[in-house]
Amino acid sequence: MKLVNDIQALRQQVKEWRMLDLKIAFVPTMGNLHDGHLALVKSAHQYADKVIVSIFINPMQFGLSEDIDNYPKTLEQDKNRLIAQDTDLLFIPTSDIIYPKGYTDNTFVEVPNISNLYCGQSRPGHFRGVATVVCKLFNLVQPDIACFGSKDYQQLQIIQTMVDDLSMPVEIIPVEIIREDSGLAMSSRNGYLTAEERLIAPALYQTLQWLAQQIKTNRNFDELSQQAGEKINQAGLTTDYISICHAFTLAKATENDQNLVILASAFCGKARLIDNIQVNI
Ligand code: PAF
Repeated sequence: MKLVNDIQALRQQVKEWRMLDLKIAFVPTMGNLHDGHLALVKSAHQYADKVIVSIFINPMQFGLSEDIDNYPKTLEQDKNRLIAQDTDLLFIPTSDIIYPKGYTDNTFVEVPNISNLYCGQSRPGHFRGVATVVCKLFNLVQPDIACFGSKDYQQLQIIQTMVDDLSMPVEIIPVEIIREDSGLAMSSRNGYLTAEERLIAPALYQTLQWLAQQIKTNRNFDELSQQAGEKINQAGLTTDYISICHAFTLAKATENDQNLVILASAFCGKARLIDNIQVNI
């Protein structure tokens, strides 16, 4: 695996691969890699000849009250995991490369409306930071395809919207959620859970499964969502939101919608967990 820190070396390598007519897949990450990330790399190999992964803890997507300094850093372990997955190139840019003027004065990308819902409401500015860094990384790497996990369903739709709206020449591949045996969706945030919290955290997914069953026969979405929120709270978590949405626009679902996604987020101790389930009726 080739390690690259600067733009020139990255562009030179990409140029050489392009001259050989090789297809390039890209997996952006913030490091602290778990099996969910490795599934993205595996998927990337299925679609392309060369796989580039980036590790960059993006300050622009953290809110003022969110502790970026304590974000878990496991670089040596991440490198070994990526080598084991036959990653071709690992790009680890510095903040100066991504935000030469500092991220508060940088040009930004904002996908309107959808960025302000759900996680965007709880984390103002978060999706502006995500869209901006992903746009910058796409411009640096210039991949043919890019893989994103479906656990971050809203992020995935925002990136797809950005790519469509700005005609970016990259195909977005959604990759299925990888779960622990308990059903808990894999996430770097699970590292914040205590042993006791790990026992109650799966209630989030269990409630999503319950709600997915209910909406097949009952279309009183508001009442069902409220009941689901209460179930999550009774399990010892604190519901941030749970919403039955149209699968693509993420607007609140109406009775006639058929492609649905249920999005949910709940606090479990210090960790803010997110999860979702897609339902086609
Ligand atoms: O999903 C993530 O890890 C991050 O939001 C991403 C897409 C790497 C952008 O920083």
